[in-house]
Amino acid sequence: MNEIVQDYIEDYIRGLIPKGNPLLEAFRIKAIADEIPIIHSEVQNYIEILIKSRNIKSILEIGTAVGYSASVFVNAMGPQGQIDTIERSFKMVSQADENIEKLGMSDQVNLILGDALEKIETLDKTYDMIFLDGAKAHYIHLLDACLRCLKPGGVLVSDNVLFKGMIASNALVIRRKITIVKRMREYLLAISNHPQLLTTILPLGDGLAVSWMKE
Ligand SMILES: C[S@@+](CC[C@H](N)C(=O)[O-])C[C@H]1O[C@@H](n2cnc3c(N)ncnc32)[C@H](O)[C@@H]1O
Repeated sequence: MNEIVQDYIEDYIRGLIPKGNPLLEAFRIKAIADEIPIIHSEVQNYIEILIKSRNIKSILEIGTAVGYSASVFVNAMGPQGQIDTIERSFKMVSQADENIEKLGMSDQVNLILGDALEKIETLDKTYDMIFLDGAKAHYIHLLDACLRCLKPGGVLVSDNVLFKGMIASNALVIRRKITIVKRMREYLLAISNHPQLLTTILPLGDGLAVSWMKE
């Protein structure tokens, strides 16, 4: 059972999303079969609209996994798009490298192996969009660095921010997840009240926060 949006609504919305690029669709099906936690289809659909409507050409992603969302974002940005994506698992980076090469996207994807908390400090670029999709307990620790790396007018998109409903309701909290819940609540308060950001939290997928960096 889904604690954020009722299953029948989610299924209906997903059913309306047309199948896109067949290679990406095959990639999505394989990743799901391999139990890789990739972005939900409706979240993907929303971010693709964001990328195209805001003419986003540079993205920093935290949490590559096998490279599925990075490939979707490159496809949405077109040939001018560039993504830097950080992943701490060597195994994931190797698979992502293979997948991205097969899609002919290697020139547009810079895979960075390491812990995002350390690697983000080494980046001296700014981006049109940052997609936070790594360990949920670290979002709060990455916030200052993300703001430093975001262009004025850029968007910070944070996935899984409602975490199976636990963030909004104590009744749903599993005891061993309490640290994630506390830190995510702290993060959502911070991005909702930050003087440089305008934030909305959407009950989409596992919860998506979209924050616009004021110009
Ligand atoms: C939800 S998956 C990413 C899915 C991917 N964005 C997609 O939609 O295709 C999260 C990934 O973040 C990675 N990760 C978690 N914490 C991290 C950290 N501190 N630094 C780098 N990667 C991290 C995990 O190893 C995992 O592969």
